[in-house]
Amino acid sequence: MKLIIINGPNLNLLGKREPEVYGSQTFEDYLYILMKEYQTKKIELEYFQSNGEGELIDKIHEVGFSYDGIILNAGAYTHTSIAIADAISAITTPVIEVHISNVHKRESFRHHSYLSPNVEGIIIGFGLKGYKLAIESFL
Ligand code: DQA
Repeated sequence: MKLIIINGPNLNLLGKREPEVYGSQTFEDYLYILMKEYQTKKIELEYFQSNGEGELIDKIHEVGFSYDGIILNAGAYTHTSIAIADAISAITTPVIEVHISNVHKRESFRHHSYLSPNVEGIIIGFGLKGYKLAIESFL
């Protein structure tokens, strides 16, 4: 099974960025643990991060007709990007939307997601563990 985690803007700063909201672990450290855990379960897990909307859309197009699942945290583009929502609608690979923080406990502009109507499921507020829960949902 081929899965990819796609992280959007500012998620490259996990570990340094607002640790009280997003925790103090870097994504690379967390990913290393995830990859070790799932490599024995015949899962090919890839990772892509970009701060650019167009690059995220290009990656969704690239993997979206051949991979078995996309785990997408589009960061702030979640709340602004009709273009990423359209990219999700355009592909055949199922997408799980993940948010590390509970966006509904935060500012009201984070309560709306353009992506949610187009995804299979949403995992919100469980910290980095949300990515693992998303992988489990594909198994
Ligand atoms: C986030 C929540 C978004 O509102 C924010 O812009 C992010 C991260 C999360 O994982 O909690 O960058 O997607």
